[in-house]
Amino acid sequence: MKCPKCKSENLDEAMFCGSCGAKLSIVCSQCGFENPPRNKFCNGCGHDLTIPSEPTLKDLSLDEKLEKIQKYLPKGITEKILAQRDRIEGERKQVTVMFCDMEGFTQLSEKLGPEEAYTIMDQVYEILIHKVHDYEGTVNEMTGDGIMALFGAPIALEDAPQRAIRSGYAIHREMSRFNDRMKQEKENLPPLKMRIGIHTGPVVVGTLGNDLRVEFKAVGDTVNLASRMEGLAEPGATYVSNDTFKLTEGFFRFEALGKREVKGKGEPVNVFRVIAPSSRRTRFDVSAERGLTPFVGRERALELLLDGFEHAKTGRGQAFSIVSEAGVGKSRLLYEFRKAVANEDVTFLEGKCLSYSRGVAYHPVIDVLKSNFDIAEGDGDVEIREKLKRGLKILGADEASTLPYLLELLSVKDSGVDTVSLTPEARKDRIIEALNRNAIKASEIRPVIMAIEDLHWIDKSSEDRLESLLDVISGARIFLIFTYRPEFVHTWGARSYHSQVNLNRLSNRESLAMMAHRLGTEEVDRDLEELILEKTEGVPFFIEEFIKSLTELKIIEKKENRYHLAKNIKDVIIPSTVQDVIMARIDSLPEEAKGVLQTGSVVGREFSHVLINRVMDTPEQELLSHLSILKDSELVYERGVMADLKMH
Ligand SMILES: Nc1ncnc2c1ncn2[C@@H]1O[C@H](COP(=O)(O)OP(=O)(O)O)[C@@H](O)[C@H]1O
Ligand SMILES: [Mg+2]
Repeated sequence: MKCPKCKSENLDEAMFCGSCGAKLSIVCSQCGFENPPRNKFCNGCGHDLTIPSEPTLKDLSLDEKLEKIQKYLPKGITEKILAQRDRIEGERKQVTVMFCDMEGFTQLSEKLGPEEAYTIMDQVYEILIHKVHDYEGTVNEMTGDGIMALFGAPIALEDAPQRAIRSGYAIHREMSRFNDRMKQEKENLPPLKMRIGIHTGPVVVGTLGNDLRVEFKAVGDTVNLASRMEGLAEPGATYVSNDTFKLTEGFFRFEALGKREVKGKGEPVNVFRVIAPSSRRTRFDVSAERGLTPFVGRERALELLLDGFEHAKTGRGQAFSIVSEAGVGKSRLLYEFRKAVANEDVTFLEGKCLSYSRGVAYHPVIDVLKSNFDIAEGDGDVEIREKLKRGLKILGADEASTLPYLLELLSVKDSGVDTVSLTPEARKDRIIEALNRNAIKASEIRPVIMAIEDLHWIDKSSEDRLESLLDVISGARIFLIFTYRPEFVHTWGARSYHSQVNLNRLSNRESLAMMAHRLGTEEVDRDLEELILEKTEGVPFFIEEFIKSLTELKIIEKKENRYHLAKNIKDVIIPSTVQDVIMARIDSLPEEAKGVLQTGSVVGREFSHVLINRVMDTPEQELLSHLSILKDSELVYERGVMADLKMH
């Protein structure tokens, strides 16, 4: 292999250059993993390293670069955008805009000369693009020394504001690694830092260029304000607007910077600096911290889970899937179950699939592993190794055949896994076997409850792992709980010890009970009750968000101990947290259905509301009820449209 630094030839098995001592490695063109030089396949993703990689950005002209950016688009997005192009154009969307600008470029080119500076800039672009795509954003523009990225347009994304902030965080981190690398190569280089600004708001999508870039028809304030946030941010920092802050509060630690003057805005606006991600990763974690609404209903579902666990405890392993649409209460049921078994001597392990983790192999499995061995976020390689060793000893597991695979999963250096003689498939099998053995060993000490949440976002490797775990639990004291939305279809077939609990929306009585809990009184005017029932349709998440937004907007008020509507209900708007969920849902619907819904909604006002999984199978009456959230305001429903729908 040729040394990248001094260009001298080395033997294939050399790890360091014989002439200059530089580390030799092959960086995978697919996933960026740094492989030992003798690898034929990537340790990170299994990609064939012998295939020549494509030219890097620096070899390309601007047009070619743009084309390449499109190639980089998150998997499947290009097709999705093209298929929906006609509909997307002119659509009003809630979007999170991120501006990312480099500081220090001028000094850099003064020091290095323009040519070398541009080579470096290209590498920086690569980082920016990759880190945006990791969170399924799209790079909409390459500015002189940065980018403008969109999250949630052209295709709506759940958790778009959160993704944008995480993407920004990843960019800062990657840039600091980049600076470290640069420092090793060249001395006295000024560090390159990005200034990042983020804002969330509505835009009207204009035409989509041939390169699928979004042109905006009505940009309004949204893009501007994001750019202003970037302008305010100091190098290395991310600043977000009040709107983005409100949608992501609890997921990150922020520093409130108070009100700042912003060009183009009459009034000063609130600005926040992102400090770090918090340990809370799901919406439910955040609500739990703020205080949950007292639990209503679900007696039967909870009982089923507890019965299942009783069986599992006696050595007849069980698996339960809790299935419902977003916000109906899967996580809450799991939480209540956990509370109910809190006094039992069990090992409770948890893993979560996240909306932006589908591309991360073994994400929930690694979660479980970490919780099993008590591995914390900041633990270094040495600590992780120690904790695993100690844990394996307690389990009585064979260290030699297990430890390397667990280390490998946790990306600990020098895991000891023989990467040469094993194919990626064989390695995967070994990992899975090691995990299964561990689970069984753990269940011999005390019953194990393993809960994996949100399988609709699971990655393929984890799914395979769960299927194989299902095969081995039937004779063990293991209770598996999965939660997912109906769009997830598992491939593991029927098993006598696997049951499914479908959570329905709440009844009117239960919805009103939740409302009474939220408001702290049952004294509520009838028309207000009806409004809530109609707009939230028994989805607990919507009930909470609506009541919060109605109170904040002072649409409901308390007078003489009784809540009543203080304003016309025409003023009711859908909270943006709810919009986010709804829009992502709409964009994941089959094409024909979506067309219908769009025809039905008055573009430019509010968003249509659909919470139906398969519109095609939904009877007309039910479909109507799903759309009722907009009945008084924006949705124009026509019978003709519905007739079309039924023909498909
Ligand atoms: N039965 C219930 N009683 C009271 N609050 C509930 C109930 N079910 C869900 N919630 C609340 O509604 C919100 C959304 O529920 P969650 O469990 O996060 O939904 P999912 O996991 O299905 O998306 C949470 O704040 C949760 O506490
Ligand atoms: Mg949940």
